[in-house]
Amino acid sequence: MNIILLGPPGAGKGTQAARLELHRGMVQLSTGDMLRQAVAQGTPVGLQAKAVMEAGELVSDAIVSALIGERLDPLGDKGAIFDGYPRTRAQAEALDLLLSERGRKLDYVIELEVDEEALVERITGRFSCGKCGAPYHDQFKLPKVDETCDVCGAHEFKRRPDDNQKTVRTRLAEYRAKTAPILPYYQERDLVRPIDGMAPVDAVALAIDAILDGAA
Ligand code: AP5
Repeated sequence: MNIILLGPPGAGKGTQAARLELHRGMVQLSTGDMLRQAVAQGTPVGLQAKAVMEAGELVSDAIVSALIGERLDPLGDKGAIFDGYPRTRAQAEALDLLLSERGRKLDYVIELEVDEEALVERITGRFSCGKCGAPYHDQFKLPKVDETCDVCGAHEFKRRPDDNQKTVRTRLAEYRAKTAPILPYYQERDLVRPIDGMAPVDAVALAIDAILDGAA
């Protein structure tokens, strides 16, 4: 099964993709993670993407579709979770082509419906362990022992450079202008399944499971 998790920044795409990987053996394909890795490694793609990402704007369609294409071949028969891709109509069309060239198809587009103001709070408060990547939040999930990771005991934490108020507003505007308009492209094929992304994480996961199990 191949699915898209569609929703604005902070809607919970990464959180739910990680759960699906763990529970269903599907593979998360996050263009955001791929780009951050390229930036950290200083690759040519990373050098091009860095300033664009820090401004909260979209990286070029050609770059992200090439990144996705590279990851599809090694998947074998494992299902893919597209997290943060596609984000434009051109990317949606590119994904259709990439899948059909490999004899794959899209099963669902799960749309996480959320309240924008809550997203700003979610995103600007999040941070993660600098060593193992365990996620935390200033308001909702602080480490049990001050400045110590619950999972690996490390004392260093990091925040994404694009998780500040100004950039988050730009990211949300980019979503509204360029990504939300791709929904009709999938609605025409009856692939879209909207769910309440403001529900608690476990309830969102249950709603996704019901769709994937054909119960919704
Ligand atoms: P990307 O990394 O994809 O970021 P994003 O879409 O802005 O999404 P986030 O990772 O911020 O949020 P999320 O929906 O995954 O939420 P999460 O689960 O983390 O992209 C970053 C940048 O890369 C883009 O701005 C762009 O520049 C570039 N880029 C990437 N892909 C591209 C593409 N295809 N084309 C062009 N450019 C591209 O959750 C957020 C927080 O909320 C966490 O703290 C979490 O714990 C919490 N949370 C999650 N679910 C819930 C819940 N149900 N209730 C309460 N809290 C929750």
